[in-house]
Amino acid sequence: MNREASGMAKIITIPVSTFLSDGWGATDQSAAIAALEESDVVLVPGLTMSLTSADEPLFASSTVLTDGVNKNITLDPYLEKITGIAANSQYRSAVEQLLIRYKSETEAWLVRLLGEQGRKFEARRTTFRPVEIRSREKIGKVAETKAYRYDDTRLHADAFKRRPMGARRIFRIFSNLNPDGKPRVWKVGDDFEAYAKRYLDRIRSPYPGELSLKNLFRVTHWRRTHYDHIMLNLHDLGKLDEEFQNNSPQTLVEFPANSTWFCFTDSVLHAALAGCYAAEQTFEISYRDMVSPERSPQMTLERLKGVPLL
Ligand code: SIN
Ligand code: FE
Repeated sequence: MNREASGMAKIITIPVSTFLSDGWGATDQSAAIAALEESDVVLVPGLTMSLTSADEPLFASSTVLTDGVNKNITLDPYLEKITGIAANSQYRSAVEQLLIRYKSETEAWLVRLLGEQGRKFEARRTTFRPVEIRSREKIGKVAETKAYRYDDTRLHADAFKRRPMGARRIFRIFSNLNPDGKPRVWKVGDDFEAYAKRYLDRIRSPYPGELSLKNLFRVTHWRRTHYDHIMLNLHDLGKLDEEFQNNSPQTLVEFPANSTWFCFTDSVLHAALAGCYAAEQTFEISYRDMVSPERSPQMTLERLKGVPLL
C-alpha cells in the first residue's frame, strides 16, 4: 500500500479473499491504519453484510420505508430510538434487526482490518439508506435557503450542526447492498489541508459565550468547540462554492454492489452522486488515539490557526 504523502484521496483496494485469509495480519493492519489516517478510502469488493429472508421486502422497489422527511433510517444509541422510518411501518422490526446486525458485523470487520487499534473506535449511529440519491428531492424540514447543507451530492467533509465532535473523529463504514448490481457513485476530492486553507481566512472566531449559549438553547446536543465551529463553516462554505464544487481536484469512484468501504469522512472530501440501498455504521475515535494524531483535522487546523481550538 504505497501512496504519496498528500494530495487526492486514493482508493486502496483489498481483495476480500486477502482480507478474510489467515495471512491477514499485523503488517497489513498497520498499512490499513496508515492509509486511513492519510485520508485514503479502503475498499473491500465482495465484503458485505449477511442478509436473511426477512430482509427481502426492505429491498423491494414497491416498499416505502422512509418517512418522506429523512433520507436514511437511523438507529441512534444517543437518542435510543429509530428515526426516519415511516409511521406505523410494518417493517420497523425488520429494519431494526438489519441495523443491529450491521453494527455488530462492522465492529468485527474493523478489528480484523486494524487489529487492536480497531477496538479504540466506538460504534455510534447505524443507518439504512434505501432512497436513490440521484432522484432524491428536498431533504428534511428545512428552509429552501438551508437545503444545501443537507445536499450530500456536493463535495464536503462531514460536520454536524447538533453533534459537535470536539476531540473525536468521524469514521464510517459503508456497504453497497444494491440488489440490482448498481454501484454507489461518489466523488472524492483534494486533501483536507487544501480545503481548509481555501476558506480559513473567511471564518470568524466564535463570539465570547456563543458556543455555550448554543448549547443552553439546545441548538447543539452538547457544547460546540472552536474546532467544530470551523468544521461547520468549512462544510457550508464548500457546499455553497460553485467554483470549488466544479473545478477543485476530484475523481469519480464507483463502489460496486456487494462491496464495503472504510474512511474518515471528516477529512476525506466526498459527495454521493448516485446509488440506492446502502448500510452505514459511524464510529468515533479521539484524535489522540490515532497512530499519527498530527494527521487529524483537529491538529491540522490547530497548526494552521496557531492556537488550541477548544
Ligand atoms: C455522505 O456521507 O455524504 C453520503 C454518503 C452516502 O450515502 O453514500
Ligand atoms: Fe458526508
